[in-house]
Amino acid sequence: MRSRERLVIPYRSKVVEPISLLPREERLRRIEAAGLNVFRLRSSDVYIDLLTDSGTGAISSSQLSRAMLGDESYAGSRSFEEMQQQVKETLGFPFTIPVHQGRAAEQVLNYVMIRRHMFVPGNTHFDTTKAHIELAEGRAIDCTIDAGRSSEGTYPFKGNVAVSKLERVIEKYGARHIAYILITITCNSGGGQPVSMQNIRDVRALASAHGLPLVFDAARFAENAYFIKDREPGYQNKSIPEIVHEMFGYADACTMSAKKDAIVPMGGFIACRDEELYERLKTPAIIFEGYFTYGGMSGADMEMLAQGLREVVDEAYLTYRVGQVRRFGELLQSYGVPVVEPIGGHAVFIDGRKFFPNVPEDEFPAQLLCAELYKEGGVRAVEVGSVLVGRDPDTGENIRPSLDLCRLTIPRRVYTFEHLEYVADAIRTVFEEKGKSMKRGICFDQEAEGIRHFSSTFRYL
Ligand code: F0G
Repeated sequence: MRSRERLVIPYRSKVVEPISLLPREERLRRIEAAGLNVFRLRSSDVYIDLLTDSGTGAISSSQLSRAMLGDESYAGSRSFEEMQQQVKETLGFPFTIPVHQGRAAEQVLNYVMIRRHMFVPGNTHFDTTKAHIELAEGRAIDCTIDAGRSSEGTYPFKGNVAVSKLERVIEKYGARHIAYILITITCNSGGGQPVSMQNIRDVRALASAHGLPLVFDAARFAENAYFIKDREPGYQNKSIPEIVHEMFGYADACTMSAKKDAIVPMGGFIACRDEELYERLKTPAIIFEGYFTYGGMSGADMEMLAQGLREVVDEAYLTYRVGQVRRFGELLQSYGVPVVEPIGGHAVFIDGRKFFPNVPEDEFPAQLLCAELYKEGGVRAVEVGSVLVGRDPDTGENIRPSLDLCRLTIPRRVYTFEHLEYVADAIRTVFEEKGKSMKRGICFDQEAEGIRHFSSTFRYL
């Protein structure tokens, strides 16, 4: 999808939800009361909600009608069979264990695969992924390519794993101390950047050479497949389902947050090829989630998930989805706003340090931008930077990530481009009025323990 092409929207609205914009004084009052943390706002405080693309998509009429077919039997429900069959058809894995969302899949998988002091190298792990690896007493090691650590440069696959770094990790710790290799497609924390098929192939070869399993965090697998088709030589004439099949053909298992690329409000799964692994996953799945044919999902949800998997690999859907995000990012660029390039699949990421060049890096510029954007337009974005990354588990020191980003996450099939034009205009106003003139940022008022970005409060310096 190139910018000058027409965007063809392959759906129209049949049901709408009212939203409204609070007056400015009220917005200022509410964000102050929320301690400058947008997670602490009510959804009714927010006009346009770009906090996440997780569970926020609009379901289709087909998904809604399938939900009525949900079989709510505790064991062996027909809806589970339907979902397992669809996972097999779309991803190629014969065994599926439903869970209530992505992090539950991480918990169950890591319980089985990680022994104390084992390592899980990969491209930038999502925060719950890293936390679950640590909970299982393992350590995540970020082996993303150097290009993925910069907000500049147009390298098309910034989510790629640096194979040389991966090799060094395996050499240093020894293959028997590596639990598995994890590739997150697309790489969320790195800016929604895709991973190329060539890179997946290379990582697979290295994994096989050392007898290591390769696991995908598949939350945004279809968007990744679209980027491969759009950007990687040799894939232009392949269909999205073919590309998806090839990608997953290199993996042994995946965890899935179905709230993203299965377009359901709630759900997830672990899928794998090996029956022995499947058997080992069943017990922790039962303990943590529920019987292994529902795992925290209702029959109706499993039906909707299966239908969502069919819809998400539709090329017309993906062309519009990725095209809308790109066009929104390009609009911001045309205003001079520093966004991560190339523009990712599910979100546009603003470089907080460049947006507020005079705010010191340790005064949370991206978190500051989220607060200012809410004040200006009632828009909720989310920080993916210093606040989210947190502290080093060994030293307790604040980690200074290479990028401090404000993420504008686009829910699937929800907002029109006019909504996004409104957002872009609000960002432009903050940029022009405050970008250069703000010299101080914010600091913690109360820093929450553990994953701190949900409930910590901040104050202006
Ligand atoms: N992996 C990735 C790449 C994710 O982006 C997420 C969630 C998860 C795993 C965990 O899945 O939320 O279903 O438990 N990301 C959301 C986000 C929360 O806003 O990016 P979950």
